[in-house]
Amino acid sequence: MDIGMQLVTTGSELRGILLGDEQYAGRRVLVPTMGALHRGHLALVKQARHEAGPNGVVVVSIFVNPIQFDRVDDLEAYPQPLEADLMLCQAAGVDVIFVPDVREMYAGDRSTLVTEKSLSRTLCGATRPGHFDGVCTVVLKLFMLSACHAAVFGEKDFQQLAIIRRMVRDLDVPVTIIESPTIRESDGLALSSRNVRLSHAHREDAPCIYMALSEAAMLRDANEIIQHARKKLGDSKHLKIDYLSLVDAETLQPVNELSHPSILAVAVFYDEVRLIDHVRISPA
Ligand code: PAF
Repeated sequence: MDIGMQLVTTGSELRGILLGDEQYAGRRVLVPTMGALHRGHLALVKQARHEAGPNGVVVVSIFVNPIQFDRVDDLEAYPQPLEADLMLCQAAGVDVIFVPDVREMYAGDRSTLVTEKSLSRTLCGATRPGHFDGVCTVVLKLFMLSACHAAVFGEKDFQQLAIIRRMVRDLDVPVTIIESPTIRESDGLALSSRNVRLSHAHREDAPCIYMALSEAAMLRDANEIIQHARKKLGDSKHLKIDYLSLVDAETLQPVNELSHPSILAVAVFYDEVRLIDHVRISPA
């Protein structure tokens, strides 16, 4: 039976309907987002639907979480096309959409943060201080508020995914974490809500990110991999590298040789727009 999409703005209402209303008694699968939904998010929703099964419930949250932004200008420029997002969710068959405001999510005198202390020290965690504290804190809150059985995250944010898995393991959070593959444009650019903020020239240039990583990943020597990717990215007149790093796929610590599965990861700036991407590399 199609019960239509329910829009909820408070945590108590969300818990109230999900735990109290019989029509939501099935397997609850959460897709946490910050909105500005694109095909990548819709793939997460599709996976959530599959995971929830015919009697399950797909919950999407849209919340631009201020405490995970390290730059005010980035937070202020984050796209928030709520009407379009709601229509996309409706069309994708989402059952419940949770759109809280900041005061609903955070008390003015809040003083508790969830901190992961190992995997979050490299890559984005090193260049965006406090980012993953903000992510872990809001994700744990969303897990509690939605009482979800499972949650779907994109593999594009592989460091976020690894940290959330670690948090769930370390804190015995009873939520199954499901990974959804990165979705790319036909020219290779990974889908991101930030892509719409690229100028025309920068959008034309941006496929070079994935091209540089993919070419470098064909090499077998760790130093050459980094050098090749750096050179290729350096050919672009538009971007600035935030970090480029070859890390162990499990520990996320930098590696000098390809003895274990590794990840070549990059963050770049096109003016103030920051994009991330990565490729996986098998041992030599
Ligand atoms: O990946 C994102 O969009 C955000 O980091 C998340 C998981 C929704 C937490 O705000």
